[in-house]
Amino acid sequence: MNFDYSEEHLAVREAAREFAKNELLPGVIDRDEKQQFPADQIKMMGELGFMGMMVRPEYGGGGMDTVSYVLAMEEISKIDSSCSVSMSVNNSLVCWGLEKYGTEEQKRKYLKPLASGQIIGAFALSEPEAGSDATSQHTTAADMGDHYLLNGTKNWITNGSTASVYIVMAQTDPEKKHKGINALIVEKGQEGFAVGPKENKLGIRGSDTHSLMFSDVKVPKENRIGDDGFGFSFAMQVLNGGRIGIASQALGIASGAMELSIKYAKERKTFGKPIAEHQMIQFKLSKMSTEIEAARLLVLQAAMKKDKGESFVKEAAMAKLYASQVAMDTTVEAVQIHGGYGFVKEYHVERLMRDAKITQIYEGTSEIQNIVIAREILK
Ligand code: CAA
Ligand code: FAD
Repeated sequence: MNFDYSEEHLAVREAAREFAKNELLPGVIDRDEKQQFPADQIKMMGELGFMGMMVRPEYGGGGMDTVSYVLAMEEISKIDSSCSVSMSVNNSLVCWGLEKYGTEEQKRKYLKPLASGQIIGAFALSEPEAGSDATSQHTTAADMGDHYLLNGTKNWITNGSTASVYIVMAQTDPEKKHKGINALIVEKGQEGFAVGPKENKLGIRGSDTHSLMFSDVKVPKENRIGDDGFGFSFAMQVLNGGRIGIASQALGIASGAMELSIKYAKERKTFGKPIAEHQMIQFKLSKMSTEIEAARLLVLQAAMKKDKGESFVKEAAMAKLYASQVAMDTTVEAVQIHGGYGFVKEYHVERLMRDAKITQIYEGTSEIQNIVIAREILK
């Protein structure tokens, strides 16, 4: 596998790095403290083409590959994962699925504004009693002939209050189990559709996570994605790509913490020399850096396989499993390297540590990634 970056990859990485430094870093601590959704920043990300990076230009996207996407995700996640989670959901779970499986009309009506950043989308699979066990959907989409009648509750939905378009998985025919599930496009403001209060979270506090309530919401049949009963397969396929996005988010959190730790270790002096000259600190940095490089190779491998059109289910799950563990371990050590200063907000590493945790939970917990990997290697 060739891990050399092209000129375009390097340009995308540089653009994302500059954007994150200039537009996301100022105010990131405040937004986290106030749980403020980064609305202006997400708007700018749309204008710069970060919200529909892999979508073909005819549908409003940037026509880039997955490697470009993971490089941009890493840079943005070094600074603000409340922004990168919206970016990941919009690119991987919403735009990619619509481009691959949507009808021409769905693409024109929904994909174009989503990919060009005019609006943002959400992906609603999880429910109060169906997170990991995603086949046991309680939300129902009764077939009424020309439309579905949607009833139920979705939990923890990213972009929950700010999205204009939601892809909602719901059970139409329970006898068929997961093969009776449909994926439906629901618009904000439809009668019977309500959004719950924002969750007060440990990390990614700016991100708007909400429950969604559907009470007799009429969804026209032309808003179903794919054939009748395709919804669960649709969800699993988009999640494979989504897991690469979250793996690159975890990588960004880890590498952001690493960069801050190197800088601090060179500046902070104890016992008459910079702490970077104490062997215990050097060994922490060497372990962090080795693990980050290993995570980066797994992320790139998954992205490159996806770009080549090869199966990447196992590689995406491995990248997410490993990178999220590295994010957790690295940020804990970054706080340690910063000593007492690491425990206060100004130095950023405590926020990165809180943000790291979610990468082991959403888009399939680490336990679920282990199940996916084991099933793939035992096939
Ligand atoms: N790719 C493609 N297809 C897959 C798949 C994958 N990764 N995983 C499962 N499938 C298919 C199976 O092949 C099977 O299809 P067939 O019946 O046609 O053969 C079908 O899905 C059901 O699979 P299983 O029989 O393995 O079902 P299971 O109930 O034993 O396990 C699971 C399924 C893998 C645990 C699945 O439920 C799962 O991935 N759970 C985690 C859910 C998840 O990731 N949620 C994330 C929500 S979105 C989110 O979190 C966004 C965000 O934070 C920002
Ligand atoms: P559970 O499934 O109840 O799991 C509880 C524990 O049991 C976990 O440790 C889990 O790994 C473990 N476990 C479960 N089953 C097994 C098993 N078979 N073997 C071993 N261990 C097991 N969902 C969406 O659909 N869209 C979103 O946009 C979205 N955004 C989110 C944003 C945030 C901030 C959060 C917190 C969640 C979000 N989610 C979203 C939901 C997320 O995907 C779920 O929380 C996740 O899949 C886990 O489901 P659960 O919370 O119900 O935990």
